[in-house]
Amino acid sequence: MERLQKVIAHSGIASRRKAEELIAEGKVKVNGKVVKELGTKVGPSDKVEVNEIPLDKEIPVYFLLYKPRGVISAVSDDKNRKVVTDFFPEVKERIYPVGRLDYDTSGLLILTNDGEFANSLMHPKHEVDKVYVAKVKGIPMREGLRKLEKGIMLEDGKTAPARTKLLSVDKSKQTAIVEITIHEGRNRQVRRMFEAIGHPVIKLKRERYGFLNLHGLSAGEARELTPHEVKMLRALANTGQKR
Ligand code: URA
Repeated sequence: MERLQKVIAHSGIASRRKAEELIAEGKVKVNGKVVKELGTKVGPSDKVEVNEIPLDKEIPVYFLLYKPRGVISAVSDDKNRKVVTDFFPEVKERIYPVGRLDYDTSGLLILTNDGEFANSLMHPKHEVDKVYVAKVKGIPMREGLRKLEKGIMLEDGKTAPARTKLLSVDKSKQTAIVEITIHEGRNRQVRRMFEAIGHPVIKLKRERYGFLNLHGLSAGEARELTPHEVKMLRALANTGQKR
């Protein structure tokens, strides 16, 4: 279920703000009845009309992007920086990212116009396993990594258990490459976790999202998800499994 104004905005006929106005003005009907409450939730089987005209639902589309560093995970930016939807000039549907990667983080990002799909993947209960590879300052000891695995206290609470693997160390430069798997999606979580054990992240890349990886793509390239992949992601989100 999604908020009515969001459904109207996603159909492409109005911005979110304009959709709210249309609702307040009594110009929107759900299943034949005028609805003026902004919080109203509607699902795929509800019939929404604006000014007596049924909403043209966009065909849902699903993409996987290898986000480069230096790109905002949003559909627009007030400072005119590059945003992830700039990589889809041909796509007419109103796609947006499922969750976000930091400006300086590269890696796998899903984009879609399917709100229910996006919401279920991002639901805290259903969050899918995500694998990151971090280049960190210094060489973490087993004990530090174990703290991350058990869960570490951050300012917004203790993190859920994670998995870590020390992939390589550069003794002369005093840096290390660590793989970390988490299933939460808090803001700058991986960076804050490494910071908390005294090894700030120098470079961060999301390598995997559930069963999806970046094979065959270079930074800045995207592909459509196959119907089978979409189905498997739905199953993952709905069962709360991590893989
Ligand atoms: N954790 C981070 O710190 N940054 C990201 O972009 C994703 C996860």
